[in-house]
Amino acid sequence: MRSPSTGTVEDSSSALFPVGRQGKSPDSTSPVGGLRMDRDPLHEPVMVAEVVELFAPVPAGVILDATVGTGGHAAAVLAEYPGLGVLGIDRDPEALRVAAERLAPFGSRVVLKHARFADLRTVVDEARAAGRGHWPSTGEADASRQEVSGALFDLGVSSLQLDRAERGFSYRLDAPLDMRMDPGAPLGAADVVNRSDEADLAAWIRASGEGRLARRIARAVVAARPIETTGRLAEVVAAAIPAAARRRGNPAARTFQAIRIAVNDEAEELATGLPAALGVLAPGGRCLAIAYHSGEGGLVKDTFARAVSGGCVCPPGLPCGCGAVCEFRWIFRGSRGASPAEVARNVRASSARLWAVERPGDRGAQGT
Ligand SMILES: C[S@@+](CC[C@H](N)C(=O)[O-])C[C@H]1O[C@@H](n2cnc3c(N)ncnc32)[C@H](O)[C@@H]1O
Repeated sequence: MRSPSTGTVEDSSSALFPVGRQGKSPDSTSPVGGLRMDRDPLHEPVMVAEVVELFAPVPAGVILDATVGTGGHAAAVLAEYPGLGVLGIDRDPEALRVAAERLAPFGSRVVLKHARFADLRTVVDEARAAGRGHWPSTGEADASRQEVSGALFDLGVSSLQLDRAERGFSYRLDAPLDMRMDPGAPLGAADVVNRSDEADLAAWIRASGEGRLARRIARAVVAARPIETTGRLAEVVAAAIPAAARRRGNPAARTFQAIRIAVNDEAEELATGLPAALGVLAPGGRCLAIAYHSGEGGLVKDTFARAVSGGCVCPPGLPCGCGAVCEFRWIFRGSRGASPAEVARNVRASSARLWAVERPGDRGAQGT
């Protein structure tokens, strides 16, 4: 991959990815600065219009894009709202390089960091304390206004990860088993598949929706060890599932998802990252999360529900006597899916569910 044409990009953990020259509102859908589209197809972001609309009432400040990926959502938000900056984080340095290139025209309104959800609170505190150059500019005259006005979690993997054979995520592309979102992380899918207990494998596969078949699949995987490639894992899993029990789609899909979640510690990361993001939101700030499978969705829903109830344990219908403080409200009940038109255009949108909460406050909207 070529380096971005602006700024410098460091590759160390927690590196700051400075984003280049100042600019106003470039076309949010087109890549900029000579990005090689043949080698670096941009991930097509899901429910962009909904995300942009939901951030309309937030106060001027910074959107914490916890999954900035290749910058699709970030570019759309920055183009629409001149009063917002973006602090974008991702654990994938490749994605950050693409995002840095794409978001360069927004100049100092964007700061990108190589980090995980688990580091979210520290990233925000350190960037805020370091100030100019580390904290995104919002075009506000009052430089002391360092509110986090919104947070976005667009969960799961990006096309940049899934569609590159060498990243070892896909059952469709034969390659060494890897699945690390951060290629610098110590353990990849081959370690997890070849070293984990059968019981752990079965539990992860069950949690990804394979139900009664999970033990059978885990047993087949253990019997076939060592398994070094995606192709071999897909073969072993497919052979373990009786034809009568197969669902639509690739029989290995759920097992691959289970291994990916384990490799990247996704449940733990989300369980830490979501409350951290809620904790830094300013009055009037909104937190949006897009989940792509039921495990993820359940965690988002429960975390948001706890934030809305303040952890209240009183029986429904009775006045609260337990001292819980409700600091958030639902923006809408339940979750929303992508429109049929978007699902027809982008199959990844079919499983997307968007959840949203707000920290009530009297700060005015940033205006457009
Ligand atoms: C679906 S993609 C986001 C795409 C992005 N919204 C866009 O418009 O291009 C999810 C991204 O989140 C990142 N990610 C997932 N879990 C993470 C974590 N725990 N910490 C940091 N980044 C994470 C992945 O590396 C991936 O780039």
